[in-house]
Amino acid sequence: MTGAGSFISFEGIDGSGKSTQARLLAETLRNRGHDVVLTREPGGSPGAEEIRRLVLEGDPDRWSAETEILLFTAARRDHLEKTILPALAAGKIVITDRFADSTRLYQGITRGDLRGIVDRLHAMMIGREPDLTFVIDMDPGLGLARALARRGTEERFESFGEDLQVRMRAGFLSLAEEFRNRCVVIDGARPIEVVAGDVAAVVHARLDADLIA
Ligand code: ADP
Ligand code: TYD
Repeated sequence: MTGAGSFISFEGIDGSGKSTQARLLAETLRNRGHDVVLTREPGGSPGAEEIRRLVLEGDPDRWSAETEILLFTAARRDHLEKTILPALAAGKIVITDRFADSTRLYQGITRGDLRGIVDRLHAMMIGREPDLTFVIDMDPGLGLARALARRGTEERFESFGEDLQVRMRAGFLSLAEEFRNRCVVIDGARPIEVVAGDVAAVVHARLDADLIA
């Protein structure tokens, strides 16, 4: 099969290597002749990139968890309408660095149990899951060290610290169980090329088996 219209997401704690692996997978698939759109959340369309600045910069207490759910979902809706759905309709492979699983965790469990609200809003406004999700798993201390080494202006979530990372890691592993038909857990604490090799092997196997279009 061609892989046309496949939707792949990367999830995991900050610093786990999602952006690196999303970029490498895009390169690998392009080299194989696929038409690939590489995108990210929050962001991925001009409107959603504006919302990204609102949610990632400034005081960690700037927004309540509920307001954040609305902002991330608004950004995702715009990303879906303007970038993801048109690309899938044109037969492209879309690779996104984070999608709705991030909201299920970051807004759903970190400040009380708001998962129900996240899910209801998702069903109403998004209603689409990736065909394949890579959960890049690793020790939270390592992820945080990598994320802090790369430190920029987008610190709102990273400044929540290692305790949050520990809960996030457990949360991502449990989401991978919950959505086991689309999620594959990858050990991210290995050299970049080794992780990329595992990711590419899964995608090639699925494309060859016609499982993600
Ligand atoms: P994320 O998108 O999950 O936050 P990044 O891909 O931005 O993670 O990686 C965070 C930092 O760690 C970057 O500086 C990147 O070069 C580095 N990095 C990514 N993957 C690995 C790896 N497997 N081993 C060592 N360093 C890595
Ligand atoms: P990202 O740029 O992927 O950061 P990193 O490369 O450090 O993983 O995402 C920025 C932050 O946004 C990250 O800390 C997770 C957070 N986030 C949410 O809280 N909810 C969401 O729905 C998404 C997509 C991201």
